[in-house]
Amino acid sequence: MNAFPQNYWYVAAWGREVTRGLLPRTICGEPVVFYRKQDGTPVALADRCVHRRYPLSLGTLTDDQIECGYHGLVFDCTGACTFVPGQDRIPRTARVPRYRLVERDKWIWIWIGDQEQADPSLVPDAHWLDDPAWASVEDMVHSPFRYSLLMDNLMDLSHESYLHAGLIGTPEIARTPFTTVVDEGLGQVRFSRHMSGVECPAFYAKSTGLTTPIDRWQDVLFQPPAFWVNNARIAPVGVEPGPDGDDSGAAHVKIIHGLTPETEHTTWDFWAVTRDFALDDQGVSDFLLTMNQDVVQQDLDALTVLEQVIANEPPGTQELSVAIDAGGLAAREMHRRLH
Ligand SMILES: [Fe+2]
Repeated sequence: MNAFPQNYWYVAAWGREVTRGLLPRTICGEPVVFYRKQDGTPVALADRCVHRRYPLSLGTLTDDQIECGYHGLVFDCTGACTFVPGQDRIPRTARVPRYRLVERDKWIWIWIGDQEQADPSLVPDAHWLDDPAWASVEDMVHSPFRYSLLMDNLMDLSHESYLHAGLIGTPEIARTPFTTVVDEGLGQVRFSRHMSGVECPAFYAKSTGLTTPIDRWQDVLFQPPAFWVNNARIAPVGVEPGPDGDDSGAAHVKIIHGLTPETEHTTWDFWAVTRDFALDDQGVSDFLLTMNQDVVQQDLDALTVLEQVIANEPPGTQELSVAIDAGGLAAREMHRRLH
C-alpha cells in the first residue's frame, strides 16, 4: 500500500519548470514524467515504459508523444502506446498511467490516486501567487526528510523564536498563546496568534519599513495534505481593520507552502512569499527572497538532523508534547485520517 494519502491534489511543480523537455519527478513514491504539449497543456505520465520499465523521461519528445529511449515504443499524451517496433499490432495492455493535472496560480497540481475522483474544484485556493494586487517571490526545496517533519514544523511557529531568531523570529512568538480550530467540514486546521506592541523582526522591518513596536498577527491555515498559508498582518500598534473590512493601514504577507512527499524519507517544499505592498519594488522582492531562503535553509538544516535522529533511534522511542504542539497534533490527527 502506498504510504501517502492518494486522493488529494499535490503541488507537482512550478509551471515554469514544465516545458517541451521531459521532466522526471517522483511524487508520493510514484515516478512521473512531465512535459508540455505543443498547445501548452501540461502532461504527466508514469515514468516507466510498460515494456521493460525504462524511464520514459530518458526518451525523446516528438510532437506530443514520447519515444522510449531503450526499445522505441511510443506513447501519446493519454499514455496509450501508438507504436511498437517490429510489429503492426499494438497490445491492448500497452498503456502507461496518465495523471490528471490542474495548472493554476503558477502551480501544477497532480492527482496521484484514483483518476476518476480527480475534481479540479478541490484544488486549494492559492490565487495570491498570480494576482496583480500581490507581488510574490518563489522557490522550492528538495528536502531530505519525511513529510511529517515539515508538517510539524509549519504547524508550530513558536520555533521561529529560537531557530529563526534575528530573521523572522522574536521572543514574543513562543510566549504568546494561540488558538487552534479544527474545521472538519473544510478539512482544515487553523491557528491564530495575535501579538500587540511587539518587536518587528528584520523580515518585516526591512520589507515594510515599520519599526518596533508593531502589532503582528499570524493566522495560519493548513489543508492537509498539501497546502499551508500563513496570513501575516503587520501594522503600527493599535491600527485595526475598519468595520467595513478596510485594512489598508496594515501590511499583509502570505507565506505559502505546497508540501509534497517524494518518498517516505524525502519531501518537496514549494514555497512563496506574497505581499500587498511595495509591489514594484525589486529591492523588497530581492530581500524577501533571500531572507526566506535563509529561513527555509535553517528549517532544512534542523529537519535534516532530525531525520537522522529518528532513523537511528531504537523502536518505541517516545516524544513529549506540550502546549505549543496543539496545532501540530491537530494537523497530525487530520492527516492520519486522510488515508
Ligand atoms: Fe521555520
